[in-house]
Amino acid sequence: MATKAKTSWFCSACGNESPKWMGRCPACGEWNTMVEAPKEDLKKSSVTAAGRVSPDRKPLRLKEIDYSKEPRRSLGLGEVDRILGGGIVPGSLVLIGGEPGIGKSTLSLQIPLGCPELRTLYVTGEESAKQVKMRAERLGGKDDSCLIFCETMVESILEEARSIVPDLMIVDSVQTMFSDSIDSTPGSVSQIKEVAALLLRFAKETGVPVILIGHITKDGYIAGPKILEHIVDVVLQFEGENRGSYRILRSIKNRFGSTSELAVFEMTGAGLREVLNPSEMLIPMHGQGLSGAAVAATLDGTRPMLFEVQALVSSAVYGTAQRSATGFDARRLNMLLAVLEKRAGFHLSAKDVFLNMAGGLKVSDPACDLAVICAVLSSNFDFAIPSDVCFAGEVGLSGEIRPVAQTERRIGEAERLGFKKIFVSYFTKLDRKPQGIDVVKVADVPALVKALFK
Ligand code: TYD
Ligand code: MG
Repeated sequence: MATKAKTSWFCSACGNESPKWMGRCPACGEWNTMVEAPKEDLKKSSVTAAGRVSPDRKPLRLKEIDYSKEPRRSLGLGEVDRILGGGIVPGSLVLIGGEPGIGKSTLSLQIPLGCPELRTLYVTGEESAKQVKMRAERLGGKDDSCLIFCETMVESILEEARSIVPDLMIVDSVQTMFSDSIDSTPGSVSQIKEVAALLLRFAKETGVPVILIGHITKDGYIAGPKILEHIVDVVLQFEGENRGSYRILRSIKNRFGSTSELAVFEMTGAGLREVLNPSEMLIPMHGQGLSGAAVAATLDGTRPMLFEVQALVSSAVYGTAQRSATGFDARRLNMLLAVLEKRAGFHLSAKDVFLNMAGGLKVSDPACDLAVICAVLSSNFDFAIPSDVCFAGEVGLSGEIRPVAQTERRIGEAERLGFKKIFVSYFTKLDRKPQGIDVVKVADVPALVKALFK
């Protein structure tokens, strides 16, 4: 009698297991993410063993734990260090996820090239040694402490790594690696989990930090990085518009630092360049006085950042008006338009509204609301907002303007960039009065309109 193959279905977004295929994962609610993988694989895998993150297999008091001899190490790129919370922690497993072609391999090769004092083992399953060399020459690196290893079997990578004991190991990419103990193909759910578990165990046992690269598709959940998020210590996401040259590295999870930190890079002919002052690049039309643009003073992680919000309002060609938002939550845009309609009497229901955040940025800071409604109104009336004015405030459902966190830092950044006026909530409390910038406090949307478009 033929034995039935033991397979199970796994959600590639959250890793949830199910005995049969389902269109929608009951755990995370994503559609079309279930993939089939052999079941017995996971039994003999080391996923469970990966739970052992410390070589001391006994309980310890906090004061008995010595970590002073494990300082963070710099990776040579100041912005990457900052996002990690001040360098990489020994024994940590860092996942860098991003769409193909965004620049993950470039970034991960630039780290060892720019940091000769780190003995790095660069493992690639995607490119030949010659291709890596070509890339390194393009990046202008002449570092000789970096070892290039073209291999895809994790067991032999770890054997090599245990004998070399590098200061840093980079693995590009998790989808190309496989473990000998599992039958399924590289890139499958069980292989990805197993590879990550083996690397995690290696990192924790030896104290060697490991950077793992993972591909992620436009939707962000096909085969891979998402199911690893709970295994790894740090998740960095590399994003940006492929056609543009700006790239954003964002921390999504960080066991050793704060999240929602963000760094901006520019892809040049010779690799990635750090953009130390993103505000200056994100206010391109500064000084031109076109309608439909307003500058938002936002805060990303701990750093204040100013950028331009652009809106286009035009009469709807078809029966129903279109609303489209790039880099901003479309539902929030609809809510703000409803507030404008109901609380301030602007009739926008027959208008198409398009919204865009400069530089391909994705924004979730509520302080952006004020700039969004000002950009919409500015486009609607074809009235340009003076280029030395910016905004920081959250808009509530009854049209009130609410104060936002750390307003003083936002005002400070606006002042530093030469803005002359900032609109904030009436209820904002300021410890000191800023000197070089006029702070206008507005209580609700009608008051804002009066103050701005009078
Ligand atoms: P890559 O790092 O290979 O992307 P990933 O590993 O995320 O798939 O980068 C691919 C793109 O970067 C490619 O389209 C070419 C571009 N690039 C530059 O513009 N300048 C450079 O110096 C390098 C190395 C790449
Ligand atoms: Mg690559």
